[in-house]
Amino acid sequence: MGFTGVRKLKTKPKGDIVTTLDVGSSKVVCLIARIDGQGTASVVGIGHQISLGVRAGAIVDMEAAETAIRHAVASAEEMSGESIREVTVNLAGGAPASQIVYSEVPVVGGEITDADLRRALKAHNSAVIPADFQTIHAIPVSYTIDGSNGIRDPRGMYGEHLGMDIHLVTAKATAVRNLATCINRGHLDIDAFVVSPYAAGLACMVEDERELGSAVIDLGGGSTSIGVFFEGRLVFADCIPVGGHHITKDIARGLTTPIQEAERVKTLHGTAMAGIGDDRETIDVPQVGEDDPGHMIQVTRSILTGIIQPRVEEIFELVRSRLEASGFDKIAGRRVVLTGGGSQLTGVRDLAQQVLDKQVRLGRPQGLFGLTEQSNGPAFATAAGLLTYALRHQGELMLTSAEMDPEPEEKPAGLMSRIGGWFKENL
Ligand SMILES: Nc1ncnc2c1ncn2[C@@H]1O[C@H](COP(=O)(O)OP(=O)(O)OP(=O)(O)O)[C@@H](O)[C@H]1O
Ligand SMILES: [Mg+2]
Repeated sequence: MGFTGVRKLKTKPKGDIVTTLDVGSSKVVCLIARIDGQGTASVVGIGHQISLGVRAGAIVDMEAAETAIRHAVASAEEMSGESIREVTVNLAGGAPASQIVYSEVPVVGGEITDADLRRALKAHNSAVIPADFQTIHAIPVSYTIDGSNGIRDPRGMYGEHLGMDIHLVTAKATAVRNLATCINRGHLDIDAFVVSPYAAGLACMVEDERELGSAVIDLGGGSTSIGVFFEGRLVFADCIPVGGHHITKDIARGLTTPIQEAERVKTLHGTAMAGIGDDRETIDVPQVGEDDPGHMIQVTRSILTGIIQPRVEEIFELVRSRLEASGFDKIAGRRVVLTGGGSQLTGVRDLAQQVLDKQVRLGRPQGLFGLTEQSNGPAFATAAGLLTYALRHQGELMLTSAEMDPEPEEKPAGLMSRIGGWFKENL
């Protein structure tokens, strides 16, 4: 089974099951949900496993990653009593890149139909995609009819020329292939790949946030991903290969303590911002290489914060500069939803607010039944959002992987690649 196993999402019949797989740098999560008579998903199987062989969202050890995936899937299968064959998978690695491209087609028969939309989506100029990248998402974000901008749904309207601004999210083809191979080796087909910030936004944002314009930041272990939603659609996605693991490593180095201890100290005592009384509170820290486990040094909390704060500041400064460089900072407005395991660090919200100069709220998965106390936390946002994606995007305008990246000779000639009028109008 190869990567060509990726297909268009099919409409799921009621009573059917949907399965998602989040292959993260810290953990692999598999969720199995059953769709009830009303079309609502209830989680019936949860499997999670410490991640191995994944760094900054990319596979670095195929065998280890495959084993972690198999175990997570097996636990979810056992809990649900279901045997699964297809999964919707997140893509965190592969340096996901975002761009808005414009596509225009003549309308056949005057009235715009689904078929015209599909032709416009297919006709995008794929010459803008670097040779070693492949399309993960092609999301229509706005339409133009005979030069009139800002149309949200042109179906049923009349015109001669249909223009479409498409948000293309691409990723390195080799990273996608490595992940696909690990999953296929476990005898699973891939229903769709979804970039992490897309899933995180679907899980944690309320509809108004996605509609009015907001950003989601998923602070993971090996990476921090950013998504911007506007008018209900994902309009920008990016990923920075720095996350909670880097904070842990800084602590391990700074306090000469083993990684495991640094992780413990971070989650129990770590804060992202200095507070009153930090000089008086001391923390016992075991030393690396010491045979005597009782041999500890004592550090004040302010020393610990002095290690954590610059790294977290660096992460949010990178987020800010990526958003500013993208041109989507203004579209994202003043609202940020912060999620991912790293968002549990004490004080991280205040620091994010300060560096980004936006209103930040902490997000966790919403609107799903059957998640346990533990699997309802921010670290499970991506896995939960994948379920929402798999359900909501059924029957939507989507391209098969073959259609997304046509061979060069099939590329339509004379199409413009530009930032759409829609985008300019909303700045
Ligand atoms: N209470 C806590 N305080 C601080 N950090 C925490 C806390 N709980 C978890 N973390 C950190 O969250 C990170 C893991 O987050 P998450 O589970 O979202 O990562 P992941 O999805 O596996 O990784 P990625 O998205 O980068 O591939 C780890 O670095 C961990 O130390
Ligand atoms: Mg993650």
